[in-house]
Amino acid sequence: MSGKLDGKRAIVTGAAQGIGYACAERFVAEGARVLLADIDADKVRHAAEALNANHPGTAFDIGCDVGDLSDLAKMVDHAAQVLGGIDILVNNAGITQPAAILEITEAQYDRVLSVNLKAGVFATQFVAKHMIDQGCGGVIINMSSVNSVLTIPEILAYNLSKGAINQLTRNTAIALAPYGIRVCAIGPGTIMTELSRQSVASDEEKLRAILRRTPIGRAGEPEEIGAIAAFLASTDASYITGEVVYADGGRLGLNYTVPDRD
Ligand SMILES: NC(=O)c1ccc[n+]([C@@H]2O[C@H](COP(=O)([O-])OP(=O)(O)OC[C@H]3O[C@@H](n4cnc5c(N)ncnc54)[C@H](O)[C@@H]3O)[C@@H](O)[C@H]2O)c1
Repeated sequence: MSGKLDGKRAIVTGAAQGIGYACAERFVAEGARVLLADIDADKVRHAAEALNANHPGTAFDIGCDVGDLSDLAKMVDHAAQVLGGIDILVNNAGITQPAAILEITEAQYDRVLSVNLKAGVFATQFVAKHMIDQGCGGVIINMSSVNSVLTIPEILAYNLSKGAINQLTRNTAIALAPYGIRVCAIGPGTIMTELSRQSVASDEEKLRAILRRTPIGRAGEPEEIGAIAAFLASTDASYITGEVVYADGGRLGLNYTVPDRD
């Protein structure tokens, strides 16, 4: 085997499907062993089984609500136990709730911020402590979004969480640099997963609206994000830290066109 990530040990959250699964799949293909964590325990078990079918003994799974700190702590302990250490963490699990400023409830706000942001803060803390004890550095990758810098009023909490993820990335990159731990983020545009099918690409008109602001002319595939995660996690990216890599088909270069007003 001679992959970019030979012998590396990784945790990927939200790995039962979509972008998280694609990251885990690419990591395994590059020689890593991976703990797949997801709130859907059955689905993540099947996901790990699918990876093990092609690469036996490389994938492990755990049911885990990343919004619950005790679950997060168990996830990190389990990774250290089954993988024998932790070199890579991907804070990928994320949710959205359709609510703008005039209707958002406290419960919606708390849940989105807890899964999308608080989980990233404390998974980083728990894993970074392991990495520091191991003494050989590591890489943490946060799943941001173009919605960290652009905005869609109907997903206020999601926008807030992703903006904060960019600051988490910069802040922790600096705090953890002395320990040889790099922290980067990936900011996808529209990627064809369940999350986008249920929100921004839920019908033909919404999909057309997305394509009108995507110069490359198509939505991205989860594997295209997995490839970036593998690069950032590898020594090919050894001098990159604190950066957000946007994979958006060119969207951030466009000026947004608001709908006509009567
Ligand atoms: N798909 C896109 O267009 C897109 C664009 C930008 C950013 N992102 C980000 O990429 C990440 C993954 O998105 P996706 O499109 O693959 O979504 P998805 O809905 O297809 O998959 C998300 C996974 O996370 C799991 N999950 C949800 N809540 C969880 C929790 N509390 N604890 C543990 N697991 C949980 C789900 O069960 C699911 O398996 C998210 O952070 C999302 O914000 C996605």
